[in-house]
Amino acid sequence: MSKFVIEKKGKLEGNVAVGGCKNAILPILAATLLTEEKCVINAVPPLSDVIALCSMIKEMGIFLDIDQKKQCVSVCAKNIESIQTDYQKAAKMRASFLIMGALLARCREAIIPLPGGCPIGSRPVDLHLKGFYALGCHSEQSHGFIHICAKKLQGDKIYLDFPSVGATENIMIAATLAKGVTTILNAAAEPEVIDLAEFLKKMGANITGEGTSTITITGVKKLSGTEYTVMPDRIEAGTFMIAAAITKGDVVVENVREKDLKPILAKLSETNVKTQKVEENAFRVYTNTKLQPVSLKTMPFPGFPTDMQAPFMSLLSVIKGTSVITETVFENRFLHATELQRMGAKISIDSRSAVIEGVEKLTGTQVKAMDLRGGAGLILSALAAEGKTEISDIYHIERGYYNIEKKLQKIGASIVKMT
Ligand code: EPZ
Repeated sequence: MSKFVIEKKGKLEGNVAVGGCKNAILPILAATLLTEEKCVINAVPPLSDVIALCSMIKEMGIFLDIDQKKQCVSVCAKNIESIQTDYQKAAKMRASFLIMGALLARCREAIIPLPGGCPIGSRPVDLHLKGFYALGCHSEQSHGFIHICAKKLQGDKIYLDFPSVGATENIMIAATLAKGVTTILNAAAEPEVIDLAEFLKKMGANITGEGTSTITITGVKKLSGTEYTVMPDRIEAGTFMIAAAITKGDVVVENVREKDLKPILAKLSETNVKTQKVEENAFRVYTNTKLQPVSLKTMPFPGFPTDMQAPFMSLLSVIKGTSVITETVFENRFLHATELQRMGAKISIDSRSAVIEGVEKLTGTQVKAMDLRGGAGLILSALAAEGKTEISDIYHIERGYYNIEKKLQKIGASIVKMT
């Protein structure tokens, strides 16, 4: 199994570019099944989650080509030979559940494995199903699959008990070809939801309100193929910003959108990390004063993103003073804390809150990535820790960060991937 070996090498300096956003690419790839015509998606790094979803789509008899060099994926769902996704693959990757909305819209039927939980939580899909039932679907579950179908999809008002990103995306996808109007109340407002809506509107969908808590979709007869460039990854951007801050470096993070980063920039400035817009899509991140501890609460957008919680914990663990993190989105998203404690971090966990006493320095040792963002947090801590750190199970990290070791090497980090 591969691992990252990281040695402290002081301040990171230079420019690093952010790639296309995993959490926008996955729903957009699912949405390409809505049309018989060709879709071309640009800015798609060959992340393992992306490769997995692409292979699942190909196994349904759909034409799909990945150009890894150009980071572009072409899909033409003229023929959909199977309405069932592979059990093993789908159970391993939640985002495969997003295919359900597109299959219901195109074929009125889908057979999709119930996505397993994952290290950060049970990850139910009750809100997805609540939306599909409101559109006229019914389902039964057997042998680990959900078999869902409808005579026709009829628009309706759907209230989401929690502004679930995936449920908002899945219902929006299905509603584009439903009869009549669908209104999603208490919808997720994440930038990735807006990016999916932009893609769907380029295909000819009739959507308003994306980015607010009420999204209205008026069904159309047909959608066309289109070409689309995915938004940059705001979580990758935030991760590199913390890499600069935790090493007291001076880094320009390129290919970012300020509107996506507002909660991250706000929290960084509360700690006294300096962020300066140097170009329309580039921010310089550096430190020139003592950093301050903060209280941080993860919330749905425009609140502080839960995916930045682990990277931020790494920074707070080396800022003198007491910081508090409250994780309100997932029930088990502090797994990285135990690994940080092996490096000398002083963190106490009580259900959804973590109290962090900043220490002078962390020390390198052998640690394990437990999930995607927790693994990224371990890389950040290792960059600042005395001595050598070995991170195993890095497949978690490579689900969401493409060539992270090469990007960090470019700004001066000592990180190698050992296979
Ligand atoms: C998306 O997951 C992202 N993944 C996650 O990123 C991200 O952390 C999350 O949104 C929150 O922003 C992708 O987009 C592929 P949710 P998703 O539905 O859609 C509960 C990463 O690291 N819930 O908004 O699964 C759920 O249990 C990943 O890139 C229900 O109760 O998140 C959780 O507590 C991790 N019923 C909360 O809502 C449902 O039907 C948020 O989940 C659905 C969700």
